[in-house]
Amino acid sequence: MGQPYEKYLQEILIGEDALQVRIRELGEQISADYADTKNLLLICILKGGVMFLADLARHITVPHRVDFMAISSYGAGVREASGHVRIDMDLRQDIQDKHILIVEDIIDSGHTMNYILSLLSTRNPASLRVCTLLSKPGRREVPISLDYVGFEIPNKFVFGYGLDLDELFRNLPFVGVCKPDMQIGDE
Ligand code: IMP
Ligand code: MG
Repeated sequence: MGQPYEKYLQEILIGEDALQVRIRELGEQISADYADTKNLLLICILKGGVMFLADLARHITVPHRVDFMAISSYGAGVREASGHVRIDMDLRQDIQDKHILIVEDIIDSGHTMNYILSLLSTRNPASLRVCTLLSKPGRREVPISLDYVGFEIPNKFVFGYGLDLDELFRNLPFVGVCKPDMQIGDE
């Protein structure tokens, strides 16, 4: 019998090995860039960033702390960017004078990250940078300056490795392209 995700999967875009190789490289680069930095705080954007954070942090040798923020977009379909962004869960700590690295799964239209950056910059961090596993440059509606990008991908809806298909399949170890117009049934 096939796996439950198979009927939604058009193709594997980034396999498990390629993901892990790239994440190790990002971790090494971040470790070098922040080598002399005190007060490094990784901020993981829930829920999509959680797999990436867990693997990335294991390759960051600089002492650092981790915190979480949950953000959602609303006002449009599940697979469309709406431009309306809301905080579901804020940080539990002050970020003033801390070096902040935001860890996100994907930058699509850019509205979500634009909102997060505007919000966090008002709290006076010592520095504020973005690390995203995936970026779809062809979908950008607001320009975002990205400091670390795992992979640039085409304008296709993807799932797995933290990214969901209507909340399912975040656990897959690879990033796959969803078949066009595929709807989730009762899984
Ligand atoms: P943006 O605000 O349009 O940049 O969208 C960012 C958010 O939309 C991400 O944090 C994801 O939660 C979601 N998203 C965008 N593209 C995809 C995708 O291809 N698969 C799964 N989620 C996506
Ligand atoms: Mg996200």
